[in-house]
Amino acid sequence: MASYDRNHFVKAEASYDPSGLSGKSVIITGGASGLGLQFAKDFVAAGAFVTIGDINGESGKRVVEDLGGEEKATFVQCDVLSWQDQLKLFKRALDRSPSKGIDIVLANAGISGQDDVFHDKRDEKTGDPLEPDLSIFKIDGIGPLYTVKLALHYLARQPHDEKGRDRCIIMTASLAGYLGLPGAPQYNAAKFAVRGLMNSLRLTAPAKGIRINVLAPWYIKTPIMSEEVMDKLTGYGVRFAAIEDASSAVLHLASDTSLNGRALAVVTRDVDPRGYLDVREDDFRDVLYADMDYVPVPKAGRLWTSKADFFRPFRTAAGAAGGENIIPLYDPALHHEATDEPDLRDLNTALATLVDIFPDVEPETFREMLSNISESSRVEVVTEQMLKNDAKKSRLGKTLRKARLVDPTAKRRLRLTSETALPKEDTFRSESYKKAVKQVLYQEFKNLSHSSIKAVMAEQNYSYSQSRPILQQLAAKSWRFSLSSIWTRRSPSVAAGEHPSIISGGDPTQ
Ligand SMILES: NC(=O)c1ccc[n+]([C@@H]2O[C@H](COP(=O)([O-])OP(=O)(O)OC[C@H]3O[C@@H](n4cnc5c(N)ncnc54)[C@H](O)[C@@H]3O)[C@@H](O)[C@H]2O)c1
Repeated sequence: MASYDRNHFVKAEASYDPSGLSGKSVIITGGASGLGLQFAKDFVAAGAFVTIGDINGESGKRVVEDLGGEEKATFVQCDVLSWQDQLKLFKRALDRSPSKGIDIVLANAGISGQDDVFHDKRDEKTGDPLEPDLSIFKIDGIGPLYTVKLALHYLARQPHDEKGRDRCIIMTASLAGYLGLPGAPQYNAAKFAVRGLMNSLRLTAPAKGIRINVLAPWYIKTPIMSEEVMDKLTGYGVRFAAIEDASSAVLHLASDTSLNGRALAVVTRDVDPRGYLDVREDDFRDVLYADMDYVPVPKAGRLWTSKADFFRPFRTAAGAAGGENIIPLYDPALHHEATDEPDLRDLNTALATLVDIFPDVEPETFREMLSNISESSRVEVVTEQMLKNDAKKSRLGKTLRKARLVDPTAKRRLRLTSETALPKEDTFRSESYKKAVKQVLYQEFKNLSHSSIKAVMAEQNYSYSQSRPILQQLAAKSWRFSLSSIWTRRSPSVAAGEHPSIISGGDPTQ
């Protein structure tokens, strides 16, 4: 039975010697792209043989050629959610690797993306909630479970050589296994699960001579994110970690055979020049079930005193001045709005129609007019008012033609054309969206008063992406800066309450 020093963590100055990786047989799930592909390149460069399992057959075959052909690597088309596929992957590694063995297993395949599991989607006929799509949770949570199950089986059955053959599992979790990521409940839950899996197995796998560790990357530019999401993140000031550093962290975990039960966070190089550091959030605290004295009961409302220190590097400059904030990673605009306000769609249809009819008029003008008119005949009433005020005779024919379209049979046709013309930022926002934005901004800009934040939001039609840069500027100066000019703006009346999918424990005074 292997034994590992529980207090042995990866120090900031620690380096590793990859020469021991030469001749090893490595399995990588999700190795046809992004991080997995970088790991494959670096293991092959270190002299290892790599077996890649990926759902993307075309990329997988190309990757093997790029890595130097079947002498260096092999590929199995594999859906990590299929037990049989994963079994085939492990058998291929045993069959094709020069050593006819398996030394290192990387459970890396994963997806992220639109997560509407808690959105209010209903059957049109019955009104019953629709069954949610749980692909993200399954691929990111159940996929690694299968991989680790097979790794424990095959690694345990291999003979130790005279030097004591290392048996190593590394799982790609994420810093979303440590931080709450609003809007991504499945991804968040699955990454916490991977970390939990490591916390459990690190106590029992050593009995089989197997060690298990976790990689927890910060944002890294890979195809897992669309260009749109990357641009958004860049716009918020998010800095990306380097893919090469993620790979160095994996090679470090694989090379240092004394490491078990550690999690390496991949971070930006200004946080750590090496680009990765030991999270220390997963230091061993395990206790026997009977040993209640050692259970870390929260004192003064906090479980771990180290938490605040660990996340300090990720705070924004503005937040650091206020002493509390962490970069928010959530843009409510990236997610579908809840369909909790039936009138919203009609309001936005009317707004889009009016913007289409009167392209020279600011959408804000129509928002104000429409808010004061009851449901029926909105477009007609506003059109009449506009024509009275502005007397756009030349447009009269067109206007009246379009106004007639508000009759119920033409409504759908109108919606299709008009909705594409109106930018999202100008539409009426749902109460749930406004609450979400408000909570995220309150959370980030704790050194600004709630009334200032609400005023900026109102001025920007509650748009998160447009309000945030203005608040950043305000926070960077004094929070008292130019409040007088903001106060002259109208203040929105935002309903109290918390948004269930955003951040719990918001300000109770809302
Ligand atoms: N890129 C980041 O910012 C980041 C941050 C933290 C964690 N991660 C994690 O890193 C891992 C790799 O992500 P990436 O950024 O390299 O993404 P990527 O999209 O570039 O690569 C993921 C690979 O997994 C494969 N894959 C997807 N579903 C699969 C399935 N069902 N079966 C087998 N293969 C499947 C894809 O085909 C792809 O080749 C993921 O677990 C991801 O959650 C990424």
